[in-house]
Amino acid sequence: MSRPALLAPSLISADFSRLGAAIDTVLAAGADMIHYDVMDHHYVPNLTVGPLVLASLRRAGCTAEFDVHLMVEPVDELVEEFAHAGARTLIVHPAATRHLDRTLARIRALGCRAGVALNPADGLEVLRYERSALDVVLVMTVNPGFSGQKFLPHVLPKIRELRRWIDEGSTPIRLEVDGGIDAATIVEARRAGAEAFVAGSSVFGAADPAAALAALRRAVARADEETLAAGG
Ligand code: DX5
Ligand code: ZN
Repeated sequence: MSRPALLAPSLISADFSRLGAAIDTVLAAGADMIHYDVMDHHYVPNLTVGPLVLASLRRAGCTAEFDVHLMVEPVDELVEEFAHAGARTLIVHPAATRHLDRTLARIRALGCRAGVALNPADGLEVLRYERSALDVVLVMTVNPGFSGQKFLPHVLPKIRELRRWIDEGSTPIRLEVDGGIDAATIVEARRAGAEAFVAGSSVFGAADPAAALAALRRAVARADEETLAAGG
């Protein structure tokens, strides 16, 4: 597997009273970006944080790359606010916007990378004519709304299909997975072709988040060695 794996700890499982310290810990342990889950108690049942918290982290000197996952409906106004607050990537759910193409174009116009999130029941059809508008596709391996859920293995064939679809084109779209990722499931997701891995509870729920991140990195390396040995 030639694509380097990217690890994105999700703040949803961190200690919200010490967010800055939580971010420093995982960055020092080699996290490639920080996943920031935004939930509105409308598109999903849970409620988390808005752009204010991201802006505060930036003001406090945090330079991490933020991967902002918007589970909010409607999404367009918040896209603007998060871009100004310092997001690098903005990921939206197709059902949360009436005009997906317009939303994706707006995200890029704001200087961010544009992503689409697919729920477990969503197919790839919605991506078909948006290839050139996409920087990231986030495949949900749980239903959105909560951390600490179990990885859904029936999503694996979709990851494989998406890998093929991305590789058929010339646009370098990042295939990211989110939900229930730990040292065992990351291997399955990697073998299926994922490139970026969001992990909440398996990192921040661990006694030693740095060690947990290192364990994820080793698991991916093992998956890659096996793929190589099998001639993949
Ligand atoms: C789910 C969120 C996640 C998730 C990560 O709606 O998008 O990013 O909570 O947490 P774990 O890794 O615990 O599933
Ligand atoms: Zn997420």
